Amino acid sequence: VTARVGAGTFVSAHAPPARDRPDGHRASGLLRPRPVWGSIDPPTAFARAAEFDFRTGLPDSSLFPFETWRRLMVRQLDRAAVGTGAYADPAGHPDLRAAVARQVGLSRGIPASPDDVVITNGTQQALDLVARVLLAPGDRVAVEDPGYEPPRLLFRSLGARVVGVPVDGRGLVVEALPADARLVYVTPSHQYPLGTTMALERRLALLDWARRHRAALVEDDYDSEFRFGGRPLEPLQTLDTAGVVVYVGSFSKTLLPTLRLGFLVVPRALRDAVHRAKYVTDWHTSLPVQAALARFIDDGDFARHLRRANARYRTRHDLLVRVLSRDFAGHLEVVPSAAGLHVSALVRRATAGQLDAVVARAADAGVAVQQLAWFALAPPARPGLVLGYGAIPAGRIEEGLRRLRASFP
Ligand SMILES: Cc1ncc(COP(=O)(O)O)c(C=O)c1O
Repeated sequence: VTARVGAGTFVSAHAPPARDRPDGHRASGLLRPRPVWGSIDPPTAFARAAEFDFRTGLPDSSLFPFETWRRLMVRQLDRAAVGTGAYADPAGHPDLRAAVARQVGLSRGIPASPDDVVITNGTQQALDLVARVLLAPGDRVAVEDPGYEPPRLLFRSLGARVVGVPVDGRGLVVEALPADARLVYVTPSHQYPLGTTMALERRLALLDWARRHRAALVEDDYDSEFRFGGRPLEPLQTLDTAGVVVYVGSFSKTLLPTLRLGFLVVPRALRDAVHRAKYVTDWHTSLPVQAALARFIDDGDFARHLRRANARYRTRHDLLVRVLSRDFAGHLEVVPSAAGLHVSALVRRATAGQLDAVVARAADAGVAVQQLAWFALAPPARPGLVLGYGAIPAGRIEEGLRRLRASFP
């Protein structure tokens, strides 16, 4: 019915439009996303915190230097600092590009100039830019198996064909790379999720392969600022003489993932295209945040923060590995790992089904751990667990592991 003020209520001449349906639901409309979006699930790993939280990918937010950061941000939101408020250089704030170039030179031995650096909204956007610049729909992309899932989903969403390449104790198995891969995404410093370091001879073999196949190597160095022993190996970027490596760094582990800050070190031949890709994607990363981070690095606060965080994570890493080796000796074999925020451990006897039951029992006891299989494309030859120590304080590790141990039959 239709009501008209002063006249009365009449039977309406038209059916109500579908969006006003009486059940309150809006009609879904005629538009449909491309089918690929139906095969991409939203993230679930970060849905809920557990009492004993061994999930990977999370740094300890309590270590974040809130006071200093607040002070720097306040300064950047001053009228004088904001200036005209015009759009800025897609490649990034000049001070931050210079600070990052110095930082990667000092910490990773990467000989980058500020011109080689592009500031991004985290690793994920960095990979998006590289993929847009290098890949055509249907191109083949090789990724580590097991590996980090978000890049796989990204490449697929852009129409690439993603193939998994096995990883052994020395890193990606170079002979298993498909000859037509245009781009290879790797985590050589600290394989995600196994935790191994790619051996030098593998790095050289991979570089040689990429040079011969004219393929790009995307080196994701997401957490190796935290090291607890051994000498770090040269990044692929440093060993590269052919300009085939794109190096990707992130502030998600060193500061906070919610800042969405990362960067690329790009070979000269790709530089302009990457700047243009950044421009058409989102013009540039938040300028006040970039300026604050530049000051944070230049003032020495970043180095201080890394030293402090490194000491905390080292304590957790060492404790975790010690208890795993001591109390789980009959069940798990720890994969050696001396960097980052997680370790993995392979089962000695249990089947994949039995490990599922262990993880479910642990969850009931308040312990969140992830399984290697969750990161794999092909079922792993040996099931295993991945244990992060970014989100769990040292004081909770032993009790968490005691409960995990009690979850094994
Ligand atoms: C392998 C790997 N790369 C990169 C990242 C960080 O991604 P982003 O910089 O997009 O937060 C993570 C976070 O878990 C990771 O595991």
